[in-house]
Amino acid sequence: MSSPPSSSRTSDVLVVGGGIIGLVTAWRAALRGLATAVVDPAPGGGAARVAAGMLAPVTELHYGERTLLALDLASAERYPAFAAELSEATGHGLGYRRCGTLAVALDADDRAHLRELHAFQERCGLESTWLPGRECRRLEPMLAPGVRGGLRVDGDHQIDPRRLARALVVACERAGVVFHRDEAVRLTVAGERATGVVTADGTEAAAGQVVLAAGSLSGRLAGVPEEVRPPVRPVKGQVLRLTMPRAHAPLLGRTVRAVVRGNPLYLVPRENGELVVGATSEELGWDTTVTAGGVYELLRDAHELVPGITELPLTETLAGLRPGSPDNAPLLGATALPGLLLATGHHRNGVLLTPVTGDVMAEILTGGEPPAVARPFTPRRFDAVPAPTEQPV
Ligand code: GLY
Repeated sequence: MSSPPSSSRTSDVLVVGGGIIGLVTAWRAALRGLATAVVDPAPGGGAARVAAGMLAPVTELHYGERTLLALDLASAERYPAFAAELSEATGHGLGYRRCGTLAVALDADDRAHLRELHAFQERCGLESTWLPGRECRRLEPMLAPGVRGGLRVDGDHQIDPRRLARALVVACERAGVVFHRDEAVRLTVAGERATGVVTADGTEAAAGQVVLAAGSLSGRLAGVPEEVRPPVRPVKGQVLRLTMPRAHAPLLGRTVRAVVRGNPLYLVPRENGELVVGATSEELGWDTTVTAGGVYELLRDAHELVPGITELPLTETLAGLRPGSPDNAPLLGATALPGLLLATGHHRNGVLLTPVTGDVMAEILTGGEPPAVARPFTPRRFDAVPAPTEQPV
């Protein structure tokens, strides 16, 4: 038999999950005057530790995701002011680089794919310029001589997600957010309303509203009624980190992306000399093993794109789990259970969508309506449709 909860601490808002999405929700809620707490054994961790941090709504555009594009663009537009406010509030740098992105093609198939993407970007009214191969190499001289052309997108930028997460922890602390550095093990529900969580040490943390923002783990909290359980799944990504020597000109000046034999690849050069190479996309459940095959494929494809990378020290290999939803778009807002809200399912776009997620969740938590751009992302879109009743014949 489990022992009863040892004590009760109450807040207006309790956020389950201290990754960047949970932290930005807590920070923004606290700035609106709500007494806010975060439950996480290690705040500032999560998928952001692995993510490359591309802010790339244009080059990461996917067919069938036009509604998501509007949210992505709304968040990209917020980034300069958001980054400035966060740095000002904490004194922390975020590695925010407005460096642009070049998406290149290595063979005729990649070129055709990129041409189609360009046409789609233009239909969506996005700014993107087609460049012949020699122009791509003029911009980025270390690219392979065989590059067949590419898209220059000056509006797709980058940020360092680890620095972003660290700054958000500090911003939360300074805004008065309380951290319960423990694991949430069970949602408490009373009178058909979410009332808080019980943590691993048996403490009950009570709250007026509970936000599940635990990334790919959001669907695993015990006590969440089946009909409101977030439909998220883990999507594994393996990523490498290399170091560019400071003594030389940087290997790359901007983010470079490509699709190599059908595999999406990106190289993200940071201002501190780190070069992030990613990422695999694998539907393997909770597995976070870094595999020889994953590392080999990333290095093989990156070498084809920028042959000089094999000279660089390989400093880190890591795998993380993106939180995928049934339509690979986020779940933002209230569920059918009063007092329970979701901020999860950001899949490939968690870093990009951080600013807009904070604003949308704070608005909803203070009783406002989500802005029009966020309404399609209500978690209620996945509510079970009742089975049709049988008609008598
Ligand atoms: N946004 C990059 C990735 O998910 O791999």
